[in-house]
Amino acid sequence: MNGHCRVCNAEISPFMSFGRMPIANGFLRPEEAEGEYFFELAPAFCAGCGMFQLMEQPRPEKMFHEQYAFFSSTSRYMQRHFESFAQSVINGVLAQRDDPFVVELGSNDGIMLRHFHEQSIRHLGVEPSANVAEVARKQGISTISAFFDRKLADDITAKHGGADAILAANVMCHIPDLPGVAAGVQRLLKPDGVFVFEDPYLGDMITKTSYDQIYDEHVFIFSATSVRHAFAPFGLELVDVMPQVTHGGSMRYVLAPNGSRPISKKVHEQLGKETALGLDRPETYLRFKANCEKSRSTLMQTLESLRTRGKRVVGYGATSKSTTVINYCGITPAHVEFISDTTPIKQGRLSPGAHIPVRPYDEFVARYPDYAVLFAWNHAAEIREKENAFVAAGGRWIVYVPEVAIVS
Ligand code: TYD
Ligand code: ZN
Repeated sequence: MNGHCRVCNAEISPFMSFGRMPIANGFLRPEEAEGEYFFELAPAFCAGCGMFQLMEQPRPEKMFHEQYAFFSSTSRYMQRHFESFAQSVINGVLAQRDDPFVVELGSNDGIMLRHFHEQSIRHLGVEPSANVAEVARKQGISTISAFFDRKLADDITAKHGGADAILAANVMCHIPDLPGVAAGVQRLLKPDGVFVFEDPYLGDMITKTSYDQIYDEHVFIFSATSVRHAFAPFGLELVDVMPQVTHGGSMRYVLAPNGSRPISKKVHEQLGKETALGLDRPETYLRFKANCEKSRSTLMQTLESLRTRGKRVVGYGATSKSTTVINYCGITPAHVEFISDTTPIKQGRLSPGAHIPVRPYDEFVARYPDYAVLFAWNHAAEIREKENAFVAAGGRWIVYVPEVAIVS
């Protein structure tokens, strides 16, 4: 399975395969269980530009549509995170500007733009999943349902003028035509504007063996090195980087038109750290593959042993990420009775691929299991604090990042 880098067109080939995978957010109604769509989940590393990417990705319409199951506002922590993200833009680049205009790519249910709306700052969300966009619009947050590209960038510029800030969170890594989006950003951004985006960070994924960041939507896992290369042809340079704890380790990147802003020394430091971590070397990815295989066999030994001992195990959080773990490891409803999740649209459905039932959170509380697999491990702090009673009742957490362990 050879191909070409989506960014620099160099020849690439996958360094491993996670096997046949369904759509990570494709929670099924029971009657849809037959005829499920699968593709091969195989990541590659481009030695030319440093971009970590998927060889194959389902068509966007298969992932982002009017039944999209992902609503950003389900986590209180994430609500606070986006409030502070918005505030840093308002107090930073937008301060002192006359009638600034902010565009967010993939604005979901308006979790970030609502703060601009509340402060009467001109804003526009671009969100292809119509159902989540509607939630934002109902709150008065200006949102259009579309995929962002060069053409849309021209339309927005013609209608509203250039953007002082373009923002994106957990979105850029979803878009296979990265050069197309970069060209759109270049057109829409004012000469003194900034493009700020954040996504799961390659360095964290490699050091934590958090291979569950790899799923259909995440066509790229970025690093400072690869982001710098990807935007250079569009006259945009990386001027700042800010590590984030969200999604198990993310990075916020600030890009600006060449020469328009000083480059922070943090950018050079991060590039140095990435070289020290070996992110530019193929051996690093072969070691990562071996770590994934080890994680899989340890997790399955744990679950098999609990199953033979007749223990009740459920999953906590029907995350997109869990689709990779469940299907790569071979977890079945015999290992995990159901997955508890607070998102109404996921409840009553079956998990993609393995068809583990997703049940409302009340069912977790009504009858605590012996063990809960923490599929939403990126929210571990928030969840473990909230679930003291589960542990007090003798319940134990099964975690797998950075290592498989049973914890209380
Ligand atoms: P998320 O963190 O967005 O992960 P991913 O990007 O992999 O989908 O998803 C968290 C999921 O966990 C979401 O479906 C809501 C659910 N959840 C709970 O059920 N209870 C909780 O306390 C939290 C924080 C999340
Ligand atoms: Zn490349």
